Amino acid sequence: MSRPSLKAAPDNSLTEKNGQTLDAALRPSEWDEYVGQAQVKANLRIAIDAARKRGGMPEHILFYGPPGVGKTTLAHLVALTLAAPLKSTSGVAIERAADLAAILTNLEPNTVLFIDEIHRLSRKIEELLYPALESGHLDIVLGKGPSARTVELALPPFTLVGATTRVAELSGPLRSRFGGGIFQLDFYSDAEVRDILRRSARLLNLAAPKEVIERIAGRSRATPRVANALLKRVRDYSEVHELPISAELCDEACELFGIDALGLMKDDRRYLEALHKSFRGGPAGVRALAASLHEDPDTVEGLYEPFLLRLGFLERSPRGRILTMKGRSYLTGEALL
Ligand SMILES: Nc1ncnc2c1ncn2[C@@H]1O[C@H](COP(=O)(O)OP(=O)(O)O)[C@@H](O)[C@H]1O
Ligand SMILES: [Mg+2]
Repeated sequence: MSRPSLKAAPDNSLTEKNGQTLDAALRPSEWDEYVGQAQVKANLRIAIDAARKRGGMPEHILFYGPPGVGKTTLAHLVALTLAAPLKSTSGVAIERAADLAAILTNLEPNTVLFIDEIHRLSRKIEELLYPALESGHLDIVLGKGPSARTVELALPPFTLVGATTRVAELSGPLRSRFGGGIFQLDFYSDAEVRDILRRSARLLNLAAPKEVIERIAGRSRATPRVANALLKRVRDYSEVHELPISAELCDEACELFGIDALGLMKDDRRYLEALHKSFRGGPAGVRALAASLHEDPDTVEGLYEPFLLRLGFLERSPRGRILTMKGRSYLTGEALL
């Protein structure tokens, strides 16, 4: 077996961008392996079973929630259960009307069309999508100027599964087209994260004692993707140092990775510091905050804030973000750590 080098573990391997291969390897392919979110699963099963009984496809479905909580996995499970082909794309990839037309007209009948980051679709594309979702056709404009005419193109039947981290950005009309249900996926309990970690350790062939699972779960930001990525990084660390995975080794590794006991990283601390120092604890608008961090507001709102809000370090007010007492004590090193 080849040994990974320390250099092979990039600093940002816990972020969305680099999670892809590991995600695929550890992605549950059966409902029983999908931990938690019981109500969402039960609702989906009904929608799917009813559609199968009718011999058709379920209505369109939307999942929303922070990154790494299992939205893409559910889209895969829906397609698998329906024995339907899955076509995956993203709101960013569908820029022009022609992009959407090409995707929709090329679908095999009864496909699950997964559009990730669906909030990134432009209004123009959204509007084109409405008739496709409602009555299975696309209005195509042929020609230009006075001679332009619209033709209706019939589409193969499909179920759209949308996913977004920012549901508030979806227009009302688009939201109303998800007749199969709009499901919120939230952070996981500690016990659920431990279940996920135990399964992943088994799949990765790792001997991970109870204290190790607990240690990693505690630093996983209540997020399955983060948990799996951290488990794998700890594994790499143990292999490089030729030491068994223990609680002490986890602590050592996390210190090297810059992950503290709450699972917060340098970027989270930078965010909190900026709010504390540059904005005197807020309220601060997300755009101003993002600019001061040289980040894009999407990243700040979608990636950093959800977990800080959950920890109670941050509050959202109509006038902007506010650092809470809890957030302040974390920064000043009082009480919490
Ligand atoms: N409920 C779950 N049970 C087990 N593993 C999960 C669950 N949700 C997510 N995961 C793991 O986390 C990874 C990331 O999930 P993913 O569906 O890609 O998240 P999202 O699309 O919400 O960003 C998956 O590959 C899977 O290994
Ligand atoms: Mg995803």
